[in-house]
Parts: sequence; C-alpha cells; structure tokens
Amino acid sequence: MRIIHSVREMREQAREWRKEGRGAALVPTMGFLHEGHLSLARLAREAAEVVVMSIFVNPAQFGPREDFAAYPKDWERDCRLAESCGVDCLFAPSAAEMYPEGYNTFVEVGGLDKYLCGASRPGHFRGVATVVNKLFNIVQPQAAVFGQKDGQQAAVLQKITEDLNLPVRIIIAPIVREADGLAMSSRNVYLNAEERKQAVCLFQALSLGKSMIEAGERDADLVRRAMREKILEAPLAKIDYVEVVHEKELFPLRSIDAPAMLAAAVFFGKARLIDNVTVRPVSRAK
Ligand code: PAJ
Repeated sequence: MRIIHSVREMREQAREWRKEGRGAALVPTMGFLHEGHLSLARLAREAAEVVVMSIFVNPAQFGPREDFAAYPKDWERDCRLAESCGVDCLFAPSAAEMYPEGYNTFVEVGGLDKYLCGASRPGHFRGVATVVNKLFNIVQPQAAVFGQKDGQQAAVLQKITEDLNLPVRIIIAPIVREADGLAMSSRNVYLNAEERKQAVCLFQALSLGKSMIEAGERDADLVRRAMREKILEAPLAKIDYVEVVHEKELFPLRSIDAPAMLAAAVFFGKARLIDNVTVRPVSRAK
C-alpha cells in the first residue's frame, strides 16, 4: 500500500493511473477506522481498479466548540486496517497541505444544509463540501464511496456532484452497526460504559418510528413524539434533534406520504451521536 502525504505527489500518482488506463475509487475518511469505513473500502474495490482512501481530519467542518483537537487518531492501526481490506493508496495530507496560508475558497451548499445537522452545526456542510471537492480534484476518482450513516452528508454530496457536474459516480453504502444496533462511529470511543449501554436508544427509537410508519401511521408529529419519548428513557441522553424528513430533500414532513428519513442526533456526555433509517410508506388500502 502506497502512503502519500503531499498533494503534488497524489496528483502525480493519479495522473500515472489515468495514463495506464486504471480508474480509481476514493473513500474519504477522517481516520480512526472501524468496520463501517472498511465496508466502504470493500465496495470501492468492486467499483474501480485502484482504491484510494483519504485520512484527513478536516478543520473546515468543525465548529469552534466542537471536538477537532480531541478527534481520535491511531495512524498505525489505520494503516494496518486499510491495507487489510485492499486499499492501494492512503492519502493523508496535513492541514497546511490542504489549506495553505491564504486559502479562501469554499463550496456553499444551498437548501439542504438548513435542516438536521446543518441547523445545529452552522458551516459544517460547507466544510465537508469544500474538502470533498478538493479531494475529487486531487485524486480524480471515477467513483467515490460514502456511508448512509451520515445521511444528510450523503444527500449533500450527491447534490454538489450533480450541481457542479463533478465527473464522479457517488456510491452510498449501508450503515454498519454493532450487535445491539448502535451505528459504528469513530466518536463511540468517547462513551463511558454506562453511556455506551444507553446509546442503543437511538437505533431503538428510529426502529420504533419505522415500525409505526410501516403499520400505517402518517402523522409525522406522532412519530417524532414517540421516538423522542423512547430516547428520553435513557437518562443520560440529551436530544439535539429527532426528525422525520423527506428522504432526499430533507425538509420536515407533516404527513408521511413520501419516502422518509427518520434521523436523530443525541449527546451522551461529550459524544454527539447521529443515526438514521429510511422508510417508504406503504400505500393505503382503498
Ligand atoms: P468519517 O466520519 O470518518 O466517515 C467517513 C465515511 O465513512 C463517511 O462516508 C461515513 O458516512 C462513513 N461511515 C462512518 N460510519 C459508518 C457506518 N457505521 N456504516 C457505514 N458507513 C459509515 O464523514 C466523514 O468522515 C467526513 O465528513 C468526510 C466525508 C471524510 C469529509 O471530511
């Protein structure tokens, strides 16, 4: 596995591959890899001849009071895991390499960033859209793989790819979960034993909402309330949001008559956990 830290070297390598007629699939990550990230790398293997994984904790997507400085890292372990699942090239630039002195260009995402995490993390999706656009330009992949775990991020990145005519096929991978249903996340290491036990309430609440809709419930507020109550059964949970939104356009639904995403963000101590499930309402009996 080749390890590259400089933008110039990564661009040269990408140019080589193109000359040889080898397409690349990119898996952008912030490192501290887990099975969720590795599932993306395996999908990338099927999508192109060469798999590039980037590891970059992107300062532009963190707010001033967020966990940028504390974000977990384990470079040696990440290298081993990436290699074990068939990554050909690890691209791990420094912040100064990606945002040199005087850097001042950003990709604004209209509309979709008003909702969910966009509302509670102002500027977050601008940072994500900017860094992913830069990674696409540097690595020039034919495909890129992202996880449904960050459902709003997936929608935003599909939208910027379409709006900016980026020549990249976006692949969205299903959420990988722990045995009890908790979505895998690098931030799960922030949880102490009690918080970890209670954190399963997110998935339980989303599953409850999904089963209500599958049983015919159409009132989004009733579903929101039921999910909220389920989460609050965990005494350590502090809700950021619990929402029922349009699956693709992300606006809050009143009546669930379109494909929906049930999404929640909940704090346990200093960990802010997010999760979502999608559901298609069954058509009503005539
Ligand atoms: P990070 O949180 O490291 O996640 C990298 C990719 O892994 C994202 O596409 C995310 O959705 C996916 N992922 C994380 N946990 C997953 C799980 N349990 N199941 C399936 N996929 C999962 O998301 C980011 O980094 C950054 O915002 C990034 C896109 C790299 C831009 O900086």
